[in-house]
Amino acid sequence: MPDESWTILKLLQWTTSYFEERSVAEPRTSAEVLLAHVLRQDRLFLYLNYDRPMETRELSAFRECVKRRAAGEPSQYITGTQEFWSLPLQVSPDVLIPRPETELLVEAVLEFVRGNNAIRTNLRILDLGTGSGAIAIALAKEMSTAEIVAIDLSTAALRLARENAHRHKLGGRIHFVRGDLLAGIPVCAEGFNVVVTNPPYVSQTEFQRLPREIRNHEPRHALDGGPDGLAVISCIVKEAPGLLRPSGGLFLEMGAGQSGIVSKQVARNKQYRYSYILRDYSGLDRVLVAEKS
Ligand SMILES: C[S@@+](CC[C@H](N)C(=O)[O-])C[C@H]1O[C@@H](n2cnc3c(N)ncnc32)[C@H](O)[C@@H]1O
Repeated sequence: MPDESWTILKLLQWTTSYFEERSVAEPRTSAEVLLAHVLRQDRLFLYLNYDRPMETRELSAFRECVKRRAAGEPSQYITGTQEFWSLPLQVSPDVLIPRPETELLVEAVLEFVRGNNAIRTNLRILDLGTGSGAIAIALAKEMSTAEIVAIDLSTAALRLARENAHRHKLGGRIHFVRGDLLAGIPVCAEGFNVVVTNPPYVSQTEFQRLPREIRNHEPRHALDGGPDGLAVISCIVKEAPGLLRPSGGLFLEMGAGQSGIVSKQVARNKQYRYSYILRDYSGLDRVLVAEKS
């Protein structure tokens, strides 16, 4: 039944100021994303239908979403979806919400592979800590011949990653494996051309300072990199050469302020030939690329 007192525009205005009062991040965007989700439309539909009255059942579904968002839950967990590399992915509180800056890792891997004719055939890629499968799925979409292994410690994350891969018709091209970092890699002498990873890299002090939206809702094991944030990164830097083929590349996302120490770890390790750092769109050091000798 339409409720004439609430149109799309009126509801968006009311919800935006309600979110503002409750210090919800991106109040107008959150209101639009949630309303589009409830109406099963995209956000453009809202702009083109400002005067459309809401149905009673739509209002009550929307009210539930607004309550959850006002309590700090990320919109992506409420709608169950996030785009990465322009691909819609399912997300849940079992996985980190893929971030736009992680697309830099995908770009860097693609550039490395495209600039290196010798590795285009029999290309093997390892995604460590795959979460929702974002990186593995983006790379599989871009490189139809690549064989990809994706590892995570979390069974629930792997279940979701498999569903995402299946949804994008890549189920047969990515091998999802449960394991603790490099110990999860199936034994094989072949090695990988690329090890790509967005590991947990937040220090315990930084974790306490994260916005409540992240701290209370995203999985801690996806973020917490130990006392100084470097526990997982250091292990990967040390162990990755053992899995890389000669001239293979390690592509590692890290936190702001970690590039100096991670570069030194790589420089001290004689198994790497060279490394360099890529900055994200905010100008922060974000990705380390290191090539094995
Ligand atoms: C920062 S999230 C990255 C998720 C995804 N790759 C992305 O970029 O959106 C880190 C992931 O590493 C996984 N992880 C943490 N410790 C791990 C370990 N010791 N072995 C394997 N995976 C681990 C977490 O479960 C989580 O999915």
